[in-house]
Amino acid sequence: MRILALESSCDETAAAVVEDGRKILSSVVASQVEEHRLYGGVVPEIASRRHSEAVVPVTRQALQEAGMELSEVDAIAVTYAPGLIGALLVGVNFAKGLSLAAGKPLIPVHHLRGHIASNYLTSPELEPPFLCLVVSGGHSHIIQVKSYTELHVLGRTRDDAAGEAFDKAARAMGMPYPGGIAMDKLAETGDPEAFRLPRPSVVGAPYDFSFSGLKTAVINLLHTAEQRGEEISIPDLSASYRKAVVDCLTGNFIRAAEDTGAKKLVIAGGVSANSLLRRVLEKECASQGWAFYRPDLSLCGDNAAMIGSQAYYEYLAGKTAGMELNGCAAVSIDEG
Ligand code: KG4
Ligand code: ZN
Repeated sequence: MRILALESSCDETAAAVVEDGRKILSSVVASQVEEHRLYGGVVPEIASRRHSEAVVPVTRQALQEAGMELSEVDAIAVTYAPGLIGALLVGVNFAKGLSLAAGKPLIPVHHLRGHIASNYLTSPELEPPFLCLVVSGGHSHIIQVKSYTELHVLGRTRDDAAGEAFDKAARAMGMPYPGGIAMDKLAETGDPEAFRLPRPSVVGAPYDFSFSGLKTAVINLLHTAEQRGEEISIPDLSASYRKAVVDCLTGNFIRAAEDTGAKKLVIAGGVSANSLLRRVLEKECASQGWAFYRPDLSLCGDNAAMIGSQAYYEYLAGKTAGMELNGCAAVSIDEG
């Protein structure tokens, strides 16, 4: 089954053709990041406009690179939630138009389920059940993936998402948006023990995260140094901060694995590209005898191939939509 998938939930307009949930026939991503960088973050109105401009050429290119006509695909898939509502609506309405015009089934896909599916594209042997840490710019979850379409949320963030925590601290340190990647690179050259930072936890909820205190600690540290006229080593602060965030993520994730007896650990979402997170979990899983899976770096960020992969499994589970489909800014991953 060959699915044409569309993604427009944030600042990437993407289209892809994926075969049987596992094989990428084409994947095109048009990023708007350069434009949003001018404002230090995603401007929703600009995002919607750019999606409207890009959605037709990006879809054409995806079909062309797959060597297919619209009439040859078996279904149309689209990210319908969660995300910026104006951005989501561009993809949803375009996908509805394609589905109606071509007479193909329409498959709505939850964006975070798509992130998890980026692992099905990377590792052909991976099948549920497994435990997954989903860490993106907007969400941080620990999820029991019971089957391709049955998910149970064990833990989630109470405030900032991991990616947001990286981006906000990076911005305070003077790095351009999205700072997570820049901070990861700089952290490789710094001393992670140079600054003492907190490892916040949520009392009574061992799998939940809270990053806002950690972010505030860094901002206060920078302000105090500025007031005193002291120089702060940004590589050292980056390394210390990255280690604190990764300690929080891996601490809860490993505890959840031990408590639930999981033997397969998977990471997904933009922050799963983080080099320290990958190293720490690779080492820990090897020492515990657990299997560890992470997406190919090219599939960590937003793309439509992951949506096309998850769509295949949603379709097999009987999930399709009609012209009543609407975009939704917030839908929990276990409901989606
Ligand atoms: O999944 P994603 O592409 O978009 C959302 O669905 O939100 O995630 C984007 C987030 C941004 O916050 C970005 O800074 C972060 O992922 N990110 C990273 C790295 N690469 C991307 N954070 C830490 N280390 C990285 N290497
Ligand atoms: Zn995403």
